[in-house]
Amino acid sequence: MKLPPIIIVGAADHGQVVAEAVEAAAAGKLLGFVDDGLAPGTKLAQGQVLGCTDALPELILKHPGAGLVIAIGDNPARRRCAEKIRALCPGVAFPPVVHPSALVSPSATLDEGAVILAGALVGAGSVVGAFSLINTRASLDHHAMLGDFASLAPAATTGGRVIIGAGTAIGLGAGILQGRTIGTDAVVGAMSLVYHDIPDRTVAFGVPAQPREERKPGKPYLSAPSSRRGISGAAETADRTTGATEPPKVVIIGAGGHGKEIAWNIRQMNAVSPSYEILGYCDDEKTAGEIVLGAPVLGTLEQVAHTYGSNLLYICGVAKNKVRPALVARAEKAGWTPTSVIHPSAVIAEDVQIGPGTYIAAGCYVGPGARLAPHALVNVIASVGHDVTLEEHTQICPGVKLSGGSKIGRGTFIGSNSVVAPGVEVGEWSTLSAATFAAADIPPRTLVTSPVSQHLTKPGKE
Ligand SMILES: CC(C)(COP(=O)(O)OP(=O)(O)OC[C@H]1O[C@@H](n2cnc3c(N)ncnc32)[C@H](O)[C@@H]1OP(=O)(O)O)[C@@H](O)C(=O)NCCC(=O)NCCS
Repeated sequence: MKLPPIIIVGAADHGQVVAEAVEAAAAGKLLGFVDDGLAPGTKLAQGQVLGCTDALPELILKHPGAGLVIAIGDNPARRRCAEKIRALCPGVAFPPVVHPSALVSPSATLDEGAVILAGALVGAGSVVGAFSLINTRASLDHHAMLGDFASLAPAATTGGRVIIGAGTAIGLGAGILQGRTIGTDAVVGAMSLVYHDIPDRTVAFGVPAQPREERKPGKPYLSAPSSRRGISGAAETADRTTGATEPPKVVIIGAGGHGKEIAWNIRQMNAVSPSYEILGYCDDEKTAGEIVLGAPVLGTLEQVAHTYGSNLLYICGVAKNKVRPALVARAEKAGWTPTSVIHPSAVIAEDVQIGPGTYIAAGCYVGPGARLAPHALVNVIASVGHDVTLEEHTQICPGVKLSGGSKIGRGTFIGSNSVVAPGVEVGEWSTLSAATFAAADIPPRTLVTSPVSQHLTKPGKE
């Protein structure tokens, strides 16, 4: 098989299997991986991570003529990834990859991005759709059609003239009798036998397979319940060569501006050492499936909890102090655990106490003896002096300077570039507008405004 130099998108388990197929088919063609959850330079058995998906345009310029192979096992996630890359790198090639031990009929058609793994069989006259996946030892028999972004799991078998719609996943070892039609975005459970046609967006399983429910968007039907993976294409496994463990999955609450900042900060942390796998965002307003800075919106908090369960870390990515406690309460109800995100450039004294759910942005300083209660938010280049206390849900905006020993009450907002004098107490739920100087204690629930700049009209001078 002729292959151009290849970059594999997705360095998780499936990416590594696909990498071996590329190497087996055309040794030396693998340039490396891109992955949104692993730091550039991370080494895997088959090569190293070259960057994240946003770096692809640059990587393609660096390796003209390189082709991409999307190696994400989850069909909807693979589709989203392809759409993103098509927008980022128009015209880039997605050559089909066929493991040399697969038997593919010369009269079969393989569309772009298709991946056919070891020991698979593709019969005469079959059509293998774009970005579809025929996994290890699966068989698509003669004149059958596998739709775009559809998949046959290992050892799944179809009879002749079967039609499988786009986005549909056929589970491990499932069998589909000849001539049957399975609709689009359906799921056939492992070891099922499809005797009757299966409609679109239906989850069916059993022998014979019975429709059980409508397919839920965002639910990863191919993973075992105990080990359900993220759908972002982020790493499932950290560097296996060094034996490092899997970074824990984190959900960002809110996919707006602050949520996006948190995602970027996590990437910065991962670039230093793998810290979190971003599972995605939960958001009450955005549409599930939307990609925000390389990570997907998964649904509302409750939908994400229903799909992924309670064993998740989260950080609140909504900056508005008023709404954060309610979001945290919802996350706690779901059984999630708060976790902190701290930019690697922050300078933090060794005895600082940092509560879970805290965010400390790039360029901050936090002095000795400071105590940051859970869910404090300290924005870029803020300075938190020695022995300062930040209570829960405080928000310290960019450039703020909190002098030594000051105390900032629960839910208080300190606007950009404000200064709080040494030892001053700012009462709970107060708001200091930008550029305020708090020279003396401020009672709870007080709004303090700084002098607003004025345009002074003076007779002009040369
Ligand atoms: C069919 C499937 C999608 C259902 O997933 P789900 O909606 O999360 O269902 P659950 O795991 O909650 O199981 C619900 C019930 O259906 C049963 N069930 C699930 N999958 C089944 C299957 N394939 N055959 C028979 N029964 C099945 C379970 O035993 C469970 O029964 P219980 O409530 O009596 O314990 C999933 O089980 C499956 O088979 N996925 C394919 C896995 C696969 O092939 N992966 C490929 C990896 S490359």
